[in-house]
Amino acid sequence: MAAEKWVYMVTAQTPTNIAVIKYWGKRDEVRILPVNDSISVTLDPDHLCTVTTVAVSPSFDRDRMWLNGKEISLSGSRYQNCLREIRSRGGDVEDKEKGVKIEKKDWERLNLHIASHNNFPTAAGLASSAAGFACLVFSLAKLMNVEEDPSQLSAIARQGSGSACRSLFGGFVKWKMGSKDDGSDSVAVQLADEKHWDDLVIIIAVVSSRQKETSSTSGMRESVETSLLLQHRAKEVVPKRIVQMEEAIKNRDFASFTQLSCTDSNQFHAVCLDTSPPIFYMNDTSHRIISLVEKWNRSEGTPQVAYTFDAGPNAVLIARNRKVAVQLLQGLLYYFPPKSDTDMKSYVVGDNSILKEAGLDGENSVENLQPPPEIRDNIGSQDQKGEVSYFICTRPGRGPVVLPDQTQALLDPETGLPK
Ligand code: DP6
Repeated sequence: MAAEKWVYMVTAQTPTNIAVIKYWGKRDEVRILPVNDSISVTLDPDHLCTVTTVAVSPSFDRDRMWLNGKEISLSGSRYQNCLREIRSRGGDVEDKEKGVKIEKKDWERLNLHIASHNNFPTAAGLASSAAGFACLVFSLAKLMNVEEDPSQLSAIARQGSGSACRSLFGGFVKWKMGSKDDGSDSVAVQLADEKHWDDLVIIIAVVSSRQKETSSTSGMRESVETSLLLQHRAKEVVPKRIVQMEEAIKNRDFASFTQLSCTDSNQFHAVCLDTSPPIFYMNDTSHRIISLVEKWNRSEGTPQVAYTFDAGPNAVLIARNRKVAVQLLQGLLYYFPPKSDTDMKSYVVGDNSILKEAGLDGENSVENLQPPPEIRDNIGSQDQKGEVSYFICTRPGRGPVVLPDQTQALLDPETGLPK
């Protein structure tokens, strides 16, 4: 390879995901191997995603990465493991027009530039590491002409962050824990694509929190070390739930889907309480949202909305269809109205066309909302403005894609530096 000055790059977009049967606990901390299977729904990347541009050039003197515009260190073992694994699988690449010719063996010594951006605030406590590591691995696989299928790539993304392996697919995804010590069978597989159950509407309440949360990584380590409930959950409870959840998804059985999602979320938070010292991820607002949904589901006779909470206070609410989502949003906005200086379009983001359907796009529309009759007076009054920072409306979405439009690249095609 001559000392040319070309920059060769690829840009990709990867979704985030929300687990409905949770991953909590590792049996191998380095390879990131879980103590149980988990199942997730991929969220529509139009509303929540990571975009990553990866570039290679003989002129780069070291690997570098920028996250949301700021340079970050790649020295951590999770980044190093992902980079090593993907480099070892690189293939030959040729782009005659650009004068690019890379041979398989060159990937070991060529340096990379990586720029990554989340289309949602990292501080919101939404699973940014899942989309981030999935996007890193997916975009590098495309750049390096890696022939591995998405499941094999998921085993690499898993070594960046466990939940990232599920973001290699759209729709409904299972992460099989596997049994091999080297982790080669701990991979994600798609259960159904995003069109399989496209009635579902997902509303995320980003709950305000002053508290610095325990990270998932250290929280689950402490649970593995101290919680007996975690052992019981991993051995006895989750294996049965996984079978039932797969069946519920296959049959689009919303009642079972809701029952399993809610009880699994609650058991995960019970494991956190059973950890010593206990970990509190949900707060009063999270509990109020659970009450609202539970009361509504009970009053309807059949479940209308499922809830699930990750390692933080944000509620992820899954409505059985658009009509229910409209009613849900009305109820949520009644109990959790925006502060007076917040406009509706920035309070309900993502697919905010739902606002119009809910009759909430006009002035004073929130003030005119009536309390949902079935749950009136049951979950406290609407006096606490600002408990919810904002809502994101979304739906099950597609898996990773390459963005061929060069204008979406985050690195300059001449210099390989952030634009
Ligand atoms: C509660 O994947 O963030 O969101 O593997 O240590 O990076 P690491 O943890 P992470 O844990 C996610 C935990 C969870 C449940 C889930 O997504 O299944």
